[in-house]
Amino acid sequence: MSAKATPGDVVVPPRDIRFDLDDARKGHWLGGDPVGTAVFNALSLTFPEGERVFIDAVRHYRGEVDGKLAEDVRGFIAQEAIHAREHHGLNQLIDRERYPVAEIEQAVRKRIAFARSRGPMRMLIATIALEHFTAMMADVHAAHQEMFDGVAPGIERLWRWHAMEETEHKAVAFDVFMHVTRRWPPLVRYLRRSLAMAVISIVFTRNITHYAARLLEADGYSKKDALKAVKRFVWREPGIFSRGWKTYFAWYRPGFHPWDHDNRALIARWRAEFDAAAQPAAA
Ligand SMILES: [Fe+2]
Ligand SMILES: [Fe+2]
Repeated sequence: MSAKATPGDVVVPPRDIRFDLDDARKGHWLGGDPVGTAVFNALSLTFPEGERVFIDAVRHYRGEVDGKLAEDVRGFIAQEAIHAREHHGLNQLIDRERYPVAEIEQAVRKRIAFARSRGPMRMLIATIALEHFTAMMADVHAAHQEMFDGVAPGIERLWRWHAMEETEHKAVAFDVFMHVTRRWPPLVRYLRRSLAMAVISIVFTRNITHYAARLLEADGYSKKDALKAVKRFVWREPGIFSRGWKTYFAWYRPGFHPWDHDNRALIARWRAEFDAAAQPAAA
């Protein structure tokens, strides 16, 4: 077994919170910025289906793990299920008359069906790669909360709660992968996860950019200007994909573990807030 693992004091408790997202009806909920709103809406539109794939990938292998990891797997599944529910709620508030939401949902479903058709191991590897990407964005969010200045409290809390829980469970799928592949030659394991990361990074960033640009076109941007504005937002200012590049590239180090980057302190402040807001967990 790898010497590296999730710190013992990191727990993955589901928090059943329903957020007041009503302000999303008004349109540009990200501080009135159509570009940022389009990018975060594009992300949100991919979450419910994507998170269900993560759940199923990890669930497939849950019988093979025990102890603390088995407990974390249970927490992971519950957290992702609640994320999917709340982001579905947000997605329902996007004006479907105006924005090509159905078109994007259809494209997402097609990609997800493809991912599912490739079997549980490929789904698990895609999951660990996407979870690394999400954890990187969550880390950027925690370090740059000003991105959410001017956002209605319910929506701001939704994204911050999601970022916090993505950080808490960032290594769960990874630890499952490391456990179930423990007899693989280390080089094969390394190449599989690195190759998957390279491919998924390209596909994921390209898809989000495309979906966000489609949303922005509905705001009156030309195709070219929409693409330019979205690329600027994700790669330069504020650079939600590029700002965490150091965290991102750590993946390609042999022996990498998500908790090599220990950002427990970053989310500690938020935990008390959301623990207090959560409904008592069902027994
Ligand atoms: Fe999530
Ligand atoms: Fe996640």
